[in-house]
Amino acid sequence: MHIHMARQFNSILITGASSGIGAALAEAYAAPGVRLFLSGRNAARLAEVAASCIEKGADVETAEIDVAEAQQMHDWITEADDRSLLDLVIANAGVSGDTSGAESTKEREQRIRAINIDGVYNTVAPIAPRMRERQSGQIALMSSLAAFRGLPSAPAYAASKAWVRLYGEGLRGVLSGDGVGVSVICPGFVHSRITAANRFDMPLIMDSGRAARIILRGIARNRARIAFPLRFYALVLLVSALPPSLTDRFFATLPRKE
Ligand SMILES: NC(=O)c1ccc[n+]([C@@H]2O[C@H](COP(=O)([O-])OP(=O)(O)OC[C@H]3O[C@@H](n4cnc5c(N)ncnc54)[C@H](OP(=O)(O)O)[C@@H]3O)[C@@H](O)[C@H]2O)c1
Repeated sequence: MHIHMARQFNSILITGASSGIGAALAEAYAAPGVRLFLSGRNAARLAEVAASCIEKGADVETAEIDVAEAQQMHDWITEADDRSLLDLVIANAGVSGDTSGAESTKEREQRIRAINIDGVYNTVAPIAPRMRERQSGQIALMSSLAAFRGLPSAPAYAASKAWVRLYGEGLRGVLSGDGVGVSVICPGFVHSRITAANRFDMPLIMDSGRAARIILRGIARNRARIAFPLRFYALVLLVSALPPSLTDRFFATLPRKE
């Protein structure tokens, strides 16, 4: 049997920490002796999260940066790492169709790709070679249970999360020999601004604090895939294992976002 040592983190960078799951993760990691680098685009929301993390004793630095901006992301992450070796980086920022703020389907899908795919890449690319060189560190990528099967309700979103999941799984294999851990996070429904936009019943939806506790435990153990809630994950695995022709009719009955 393999015994996993729970890892402790002192210098943590989280994108999209101004609300929802990212904010809950920042607050869950906040403690004396912990330095947090938190990003988002909304300064007011970001400041609120920073204040609550500081109250918990953490040392907090915020950055208003769009994850789609590769150069700004590179500069922010390498400067943070130069000053305070990052031992955990969480590429969490993401949007759904409803939260992308776009007018047309084309613009919406373009933003989903820029933020959910390029944004994750822009977060991981600056830090992976550094962690690899020093043979330590942990990276976590935010995918979704929506990443296992094409969804007529959200084609670009599901596809963007599939990219994140597969990229993370591959990266884990690349970095494992160098002592760097990689976890892919696949939540079901979690209360946040993304799910607040949904007008349908969401099965097994949980609050972001509970999701954060599950994610923290998984990251500490360097779990390859942190998928929850378990019952929803089991259903997703089963349905995605079937040929699409058998499940198309079922997916056509699911509620749409628009
Ligand atoms: N909620 C769920 O049920 C669920 C399930 C599975 C996966 N997820 C994933 O979890 C992650 C967090 O989402 P959430 O549900 O917590 O939604 P949320 O409350 O809308 O939070 C999204 C976060 O991402 C940030 N963000 C969005 N676009 C950004 C950009 N271009 N640059 C920088 N930051 C950006 C937002 O900050 P600003 O608005 O300040 O930019 C915010 O902090 C997403 O990747 C989402 O796809 C959520």
